[in-house]
Amino acid sequence: MKILFLNGPNLNLLGQRETDLYGRATLADIEAKVRQRAKKLGATIDFRQSNLEGQLVGWIQEAKGKFDVIVLNAAAYTHTSIALRDAIAAVEIPTIEIHLSNIHAREDFRQKSLIAPVCSGQITGFGQNSYILAVEASVNVIGHKKRH
Ligand code: DQA
Repeated sequence: MKILFLNGPNLNLLGQRETDLYGRATLADIEAKVRQRAKKLGATIDFRQSNLEGQLVGWIQEAKGKFDVIVLNAAAYTHTSIALRDAIAAVEIPTIEIHLSNIHAREDFRQKSLIAPVCSGQITGFGQNSYILAVEASVNVIGHKKRH
C-alpha cells in the first residue's frame, strides 16, 4: 500500500509558526512519526510539501496509478482552491483531508473546505496526531475499497 502525503503552504514553518495553534513539532518530526506508524501497518510513504498550488495539483495528477491513497493537508488552499478540488476529483484516488487545528472551530473563512466534497473524509483538530490518524484511515479506506 502506497500513501502520498501532501502538505500545502506554510506547513514548512511548523514548529515556529503560530505554535499555540499548530504545536511545536516540525514537519520533519511529524513525517518521522508517520513513517514509524506506516511501517508497522506495512504501508509505504511519500511525504512532500509545497507552497505552490500548481505544484500540489501536479503531484495529485502524477499520483494516478502510483499511489493507493492521498492524504492532503492543503493548508490555506483548502478554503480557496477549486484547482485542487478538480485534481482530486480527476484522479479518482481516495483522498483524506487533514488539518492540525479544528477548522470548524476557527474563523468563518476556514470553516468552508472546497475539497471536502471530493474527499473520502476529513480529520481535523488533533494536532500532529491528525497525521497518524490519517495513516490508520488510509488502511481503512483501502480495505473498504477492496471489499466493494
Ligand atoms: C491548517 C488549517 C488552515 O486553515 C490553515 O490555513 C493552515 C493549516 C491546519 O492544519 O490546521 O495553514 O490546514
